[in-house]
Amino acid sequence: MNVRKAIDDDAGPIADIYNQAINDPDYISAQDLVPVTPENRRAWLADPRISVFVLEAHDRQIAGWSVIVPFAFRPQFDNTAQSAVFMDRRFRSGLGGVILFLHAVRTAYGLGYRRMINFVHANNTPSVRATQRLFQGPTLTIKNAVFFRGRWDDELVFCRELNASEDPVLERYFQRFVNRGRPDPGGS
Ligand SMILES: CC(C)(COP(=O)(O)OP(=O)(O)OC[C@H]1O[C@@H](n2cnc3c(N)ncnc32)[C@H](O)[C@@H]1OP(=O)(O)O)[C@@H](O)C(=O)NCCC(=O)NCCS
Repeated sequence: MNVRKAIDDDAGPIADIYNQAINDPDYISAQDLVPVTPENRRAWLADPRISVFVLEAHDRQIAGWSVIVPFAFRPQFDNTAQSAVFMDRRFRSGLGGVILFLHAVRTAYGLGYRRMINFVHANNTPSVRATQRLFQGPTLTIKNAVFFRGRWDDELVFCRELNASEDPVLERYFQRFVNRGRPDPGGS
């Protein structure tokens, strides 16, 4: 699996994968509630403040994507990033999500960011687990921040400092998933 910067032609698969998350009956993970279109994603990909990366499977299919954005589009927050990862359902639980999160954490420093904040809905177990591994634990729980599909739920805010040097926690995690070598669902 290979991570590369997204290009205009990726807008279709990116929209499809994001719409899987928007329509997910189990977890709340997308910021949008209404499905997006490839045209809409094209405009978003062209925004220079937004960095989007895709994870390619063995046959160059887009297995997932990640985004790094300023935490808030206000100049005071220019050195704080927010990231999110979305995997195609067919490729989930194969450590692709962790590969993309890891890549985002490593890349953000080079983009000028010095810390990263991620918001994760508390009942989104796969996302909480992936984020917990790479961040320094939930630093804040916003109780009952979310009311959706008839129930109240908490939002977790994770934070981590970004370093220029290799981070031992990331390295350990990287080694773990490389060694675990889960199969690529597409077969490789
Ligand atoms: C969250 C998401 C990106 C994780 O990617 P993934 O490729 O499925 O997950 P990975 O295989 O990399 O595994 C990451 C961790 O989640 C755990 N995990 C994966 N799928 C899981 C599931 N269905 N239930 C519980 N835990 C799960 C893994 O065991 C691993 O944790 P571990 O290191 O403690 O073993 C993916 O599930 C997804 O796209 N979900 C929908 C969108 C979303 O929630 N995005 C996050 C918004 S920030």
